[in-house]
Amino acid sequence: MNKAQQAIETLSINLGERSYPILIGVGLLSDGRLLEQYIKTRKVMIVTNSVVAPLYLQKLKAVLSNKQLYEIILPDGEHTKSMATLNLVLDALVAARLNRDTGIIALGGGVIGDMAGFAAACYQRGVDYYQIPTTLLSQVDSSVGGKTAVNHPGGKNLIGAFYQPRCVLADIEVLNTLPDRELRAGFAEVIKYGLIRDAAFFAWLEQNAQRILSRDAQALTYAIRRCCELKAEVVGIDERENGLRAILNFGHTFGHAIENALGYGEWLHGEAVAAGMILAADMSMRLGYLSATDYQRTVKILTLSGLPVKAPPIGVEKARDLMSMDKKVHAGQLRLVLLQGIGNALITDQYPAETFTATLQHGFAKSS
Ligand code: NAD
Ligand code: GLY
Repeated sequence: MNKAQQAIETLSINLGERSYPILIGVGLLSDGRLLEQYIKTRKVMIVTNSVVAPLYLQKLKAVLSNKQLYEIILPDGEHTKSMATLNLVLDALVAARLNRDTGIIALGGGVIGDMAGFAAACYQRGVDYYQIPTTLLSQVDSSVGGKTAVNHPGGKNLIGAFYQPRCVLADIEVLNTLPDRELRAGFAEVIKYGLIRDAAFFAWLEQNAQRILSRDAQALTYAIRRCCELKAEVVGIDERENGLRAILNFGHTFGHAIENALGYGEWLHGEAVAAGMILAADMSMRLGYLSATDYQRTVKILTLSGLPVKAPPIGVEKARDLMSMDKKVHAGQLRLVLLQGIGNALITDQYPAETFTATLQHGFAKSS
C-alpha cells in the first residue's frame, strides 16, 4: 500500500442502485490505480475552469492516460453558472460526438460540480459523472448528494436536477492552493453541519477552527469526513428534499437573498451563508428556540473564522421579495430552517409574520 492509499477514508451514500462511495484523503489525484478503479468509463470529458486547469488538469490527465480524454475549460466564477455556459459543455459533448458510454468528470469547486452534474443529467438523458471537488465547500457539501443546477437571473439554482454522481474523490492536498477567503467560505458550510445536526462536532470545531483554517491535513480530513457522513445520512433519508434534507439549507434562504441582491460572486456563497445563518439563529432566538448563549457561540465561531456575521443593507422588502422565490415556498408560505438549540435543526412554516419581519429588519434594513 502506498502513502496516498494509507491516508484514504471511504464512506458511502446509501441510495439503493444510486449508491456511491466518497473517498477522502491526501494525494488521491496522484493515485492512478485508485482513479482507474473508481472512474469506470473509458471515454471521459473533464469539465474544469481557467483557475483549476493550470493547477490540476495535466496531473489528472496524466493519471488517466489510458482513457480517451476530452476537456472543456470554462471561465471562472459564480456568474458562469448559467444556461449559456451549460450550453458550452453540451456543445463540446456533441462536437466530440460522444455517446452514452461517456463519463463526465467535474474537476473544480461547487460551480463546476453543479454545472457539470447538470450537463451529465441532461446529455442524452443522462451519462455517468464523477466529482473531483477542489474547494473545501465542494468537498464538504456540493459534490455530495446529487443536487445539480445553474442559476437564473431570477434566482439561484432555479434550473437543475437531482442526479447522483458515480463517486466523489476529495483530495485534501488540492486545498493547499485554495485562497484563504475561499477556505473560510467553505468553513461556513462545515460550521453549518455542526449547528444543524451534531452538537459534539460543533464543540470540536470551536476547539479546532484554527487548525482547519491553517490547513492541518488531519483536522481537515476529520472535518470533511464528518460533514460527508452527516450529509450522506440526511440524503440517504430524503434524497429529493421532501422533508428532512431542507435542513441542509440552514442559512441559505437568507444567504441566497444576499447573493442575488448584490449580484452573484460579490459575496462568496459561504460568506452569504454565514451571515444567513446568523439571521436564522436570530429568528430562532426571537422565537425562544435558541438560547442567547448558543446564539453568541454561533456569532463567535463565525467571527473568529473571519466570516461575515452582518448582512449587507439590501432593504427589508427587497430581501422579502427575493426570499419569496425560494424553493422552500409552499402555498405562498416560506418554510424556514431554524435551530432548536445547537445541533438540532427545525423546519417550520409556523411562525408569526412579525417575527420574520423583525429578523429581516435586524438584518437587512437600510440605515436612515
Ligand atoms: P467555486 O466553484 O466558484 O470555487 C471557488 C474559487 O476557487 C473559484 O475561483 C475556483 O476557480 C477556485 N478554485 C477551486 N479549486 C481551487 C483550488 N484547489 N486551488 C485554487 N483555486 C481553486 O465556489 P465553491 O465555493 O466551491 O462553490 C460554490 C457553489 O456551490 C455555488 O454555486 C453554490 O450554489 C454551490 N453549492 C451547491 C451545493 C449542492 O448541494 N449542489 C451545495 C452548496 C453549494
Ligand atoms: N446543500 C444543500 C443540499 O445538498 O441539499
